[in-house]
Amino acid sequence: MADRTVYIETYGCQMNFADSEVVSSILSKAGYRLAPNAGEADFILINTCAIRDNAEQRIRKRVRELKAQQSRRPQLRIGILGCMAERLQSQLMVEEENVSFVAGPDSYRKLPAILDEVARGQKAAATELSTTETYADIEPVRLGANGISAYISIMRGCQNYCSYCVVPYTRGRERSRDPETIVAEATKLYESGYKEVTLLGQNVNSYNANGFTFAQLMAKVAAVSPQLRVRFATSHPKDLGDDLIQTMASHPNICRCIHLPVQSGSNRVLKLMNRHYTVEWYLDRIAAIRRAMPDCSITTDVIAGFCSETEEDHQLTLDLFRQVGYDYAYMFKYSMRPGTYAERHLSDDVPDDVKTRRLEEIIALQGQIALENNRREVGKEFEVLVEGPSHRSPAQHFGRNSQNKVLVFDRRDTQPGQYVQVRVTDCTAATLKGELIETNH
Ligand code: SAH
Ligand code: SF4
Ligand code: F3S
Repeated sequence: MADRTVYIETYGCQMNFADSEVVSSILSKAGYRLAPNAGEADFILINTCAIRDNAEQRIRKRVRELKAQQSRRPQLRIGILGCMAERLQSQLMVEEENVSFVAGPDSYRKLPAILDEVARGQKAAATELSTTETYADIEPVRLGANGISAYISIMRGCQNYCSYCVVPYTRGRERSRDPETIVAEATKLYESGYKEVTLLGQNVNSYNANGFTFAQLMAKVAAVSPQLRVRFATSHPKDLGDDLIQTMASHPNICRCIHLPVQSGSNRVLKLMNRHYTVEWYLDRIAAIRRAMPDCSITTDVIAGFCSETEEDHQLTLDLFRQVGYDYAYMFKYSMRPGTYAERHLSDDVPDDVKTRRLEEIIALQGQIALENNRREVGKEFEVLVEGPSHRSPAQHFGRNSQNKVLVFDRRDTQPGQYVQVRVTDCTAATLKGELIETNH
């Protein structure tokens, strides 16, 4: 067992990235070394996503690619973690015969025992879901390690059962982590130099720890230090209450940015999606956010071509995009997921070329909107948390403002982790360019 090494590759959402940090912690404690790259590892663990078929296909391709390494290094073992492991369970080891084990999102404490078994040449599967596991006592190994920004997982699971979505089946019942452990983690991060934390859950608005709400939790985390930026993802529009909006508005270090996935602009489609809100409700929430925080950035997720979506429904989505004026959107083509309500009871009847065309129309419109929004920022000043050198030039730094927009500027003596004041001078749809005005602290 001495000096066995593991390498973890992560796909999917921020929750998966946070989970990989928990897995790294569990395995380091058990004596494993984290290998710097896949080529040096005895175990390659792939933390997977099942949200759309193309996410799964990409992972299968990667698993098959690894066969070449396995024939050169026969001791190499491959394991699948995460949502695809949970969805397909041991069937995945039959379909991909070079996989030695599968472990679902609630089974990570078993990994040291599983790896022992696998090293002895056995296969293993652990896919039981839990109603209580939150990994609250495990201090994640920060893999994203820029030392500035970190994720904190505050709840697990989801039971909203949006009709298209596989997550309730891959992540199980919703459960909230004890607030004290969350505040303690944020405090520790701040004390070790971090400047930003993002609180994560599939629907953070339904966080509830024995009556302690998400808004109350945000206030507590924001109180760790005015120098610590606090972000969160994701908010479900049906549960976005005025209490959270008020808490955000009264704490300048809670970032002015809300990700509020809308999915469709048609009430008929929203109902079929089981989203539990209407376009009118959604727009009322947007209005409430803008009343309390006129400078708040709003971003979204949308699905093109859901079951029975008509041209008229699609136009309503485009109208909604124009009305809200999102700063950013994650835009997807509907992908039917086995086992979901939509797969069992609705028909995936929008032809693929129509889905593609509708998605392209949304993407084109969103590109224009983002550019117009950014043009309105030209001339304004923002506090920016410096993250590092820009991709284009080492003479430039980049960072984000409270609205989560990327700003690029000539660096002078700025350092990553510093807050600086930047005036916007120019923009593209994706980036603001600016000039440094002052270094704050
Ligand atoms: N819990 C978050 C979203 C998690 S999944 C929420 O409810 O907002 C991220 C996004 O993937 C969803 O918002 C949705 O837009 C998209 N998505 C989920 N299932 C999908 C599917 N079957 N096909 C296409 N997109 C999907
Ligand atoms: Fe999926 Fe809906 Fe839960 Fe989000 S809220 S994870 S879209 S079921
Ligand atoms: Fe994918 Fe699972 Fe996240 S399906 S989006 S990794 S919760």
